[in-house]
Amino acid sequence: MRSESRSDRGGAERFDSFSPSPSSLLPTTSIFTSSPTFKMLAARNFSAARQTLRFPRVAPSFVAPISQVRFYASPAQEAVAKFKGQKGSDGKYTVTLIEGDGIGPEIAQSVKDIFAAAKAPVKWESVDVTPILKDGKTAIPDDAIASVRRNFVALKGPLATPVGKGHVSLNLTLRRTFNLFANLRPCKSIAGYKTPYDNVDTVLIRENTEGEYSGIEHVVVDGVVQSIKLITKEASERVLRFAFQYAQSINKKKVRVVHKATIMKMSDGLFLNTAREIAKDFPDVEFDAELLDNSCLKIVTDPTPYNDKVLVMPNLYGDILSDMCAGLIGGLGLTPSGNIGDECSIFEAVHGSAPDIAGQGLANPTALLLSSIMMLQHMGLHDHAARIQKATFDTLAEGKALTGDLGGKAKTHEYAQAIISRL
Ligand SMILES: NC(=O)c1ccc[n+]([C@@H]2O[C@H](COP(=O)([O-])OP(=O)(O)OC[C@H]3O[C@@H](n4cnc5c(N)ncnc54)[C@H](O)[C@@H]3O)[C@@H](O)[C@H]2O)c1
Repeated sequence: MRSESRSDRGGAERFDSFSPSPSSLLPTTSIFTSSPTFKMLAARNFSAARQTLRFPRVAPSFVAPISQVRFYASPAQEAVAKFKGQKGSDGKYTVTLIEGDGIGPEIAQSVKDIFAAAKAPVKWESVDVTPILKDGKTAIPDDAIASVRRNFVALKGPLATPVGKGHVSLNLTLRRTFNLFANLRPCKSIAGYKTPYDNVDTVLIRENTEGEYSGIEHVVVDGVVQSIKLITKEASERVLRFAFQYAQSINKKKVRVVHKATIMKMSDGLFLNTAREIAKDFPDVEFDAELLDNSCLKIVTDPTPYNDKVLVMPNLYGDILSDMCAGLIGGLGLTPSGNIGDECSIFEAVHGSAPDIAGQGLANPTALLLSSIMMLQHMGLHDHAARIQKATFDTLAEGKALTGDLGGKAKTHEYAQAIISRL
């Protein structure tokens, strides 16, 4: 094992093995096992994690080394998260549309207008996701769930989340309901919109279902709380395999795992070791690993060396690093994203509902539009995606019909019309 200080100073490195230390094994307390979060977790299908939780005091020598444990999450050659939708008799795919709150309906209208003008073979099915209470828990209405399940794909506007009270984040609920295991965040410089960096073209994939966001927190005693970072081989394998397949699909030659396995030897170590195993199935894709802090330093110093790579990482790191990358190209207003699941995928803008400008025709629909282009690519509609993308980037580069957030004076619909005129 390399020492932390050496690794911290190094570049991208290969880590050979991570053995669990006794001090990093989970403590077991009756407070923990009887807590609602533990019960919630136990109900989820985390078999590997449950083993860890159930036998936390087993001496390390009795724990099978990671390399000897066999998992069968997904066969090597099977495409992860392949779109399963079929065209209807009218020659169109039906896509679930969650317009969202605040500026959501305005930017969704722009996307609908542009898709219609581009003759994209898509029919929208609008659904309401205003939360309902089911068995005392916040849930998405059954009709909305059925629509996404039926169509295998959805486009989603921003959803407002009450702060400190009310229902849990609907965004989180959607991710959990549909087990959207990967969050895909490309960030590409936009010609005509000057930022401190030129030619940024990063692609970041964040594990979306566990890690630090597992929601397992409890009070040990007054003044001492514990938050558990849960990493399972099954979820890691799935997101890593998706990362390699995605890299191949967009002709990026390298996959890099961003981690902190020097400190979180068991959890990030499992993620990293799983990556090393998966990498063997993709001999044409170069694989390496880099410590999170090192990645941050290097990306903000010069992002261009990251243009040939897909970065993949556990949940929290991905949350922070993806916003940092969005900052490199001018912020969240221009950043698309996809939440990818085995069953279905949901594409969404990264920004919020912008209540301060809602209803005034001032919103910039670019992020939702770029998300919808990612959605078309996911559905295999590459020609339509390319046409709409070119019209969008050309409109932005020309700079005559920009919305206020980009320094222009155009209203939302005027910007959309400028794109339509280029189709
Ligand atoms: N994915 C999501 O659904 C999502 C993401 C973030 C925040 N939210 C929710 O959105 C609500 C508002 O959050 P916030 O104010 O912190 O962030 P926000 O992204 O809504 O707004 C931040 C600032 O950016 C501006 N802005 C955002 N999107 C814009 C666009 N498309 N065009 C022009 N300007 C834009 C807003 O006017 C505001 O000044 C909250 O309820 C929050 O929970 C939802």
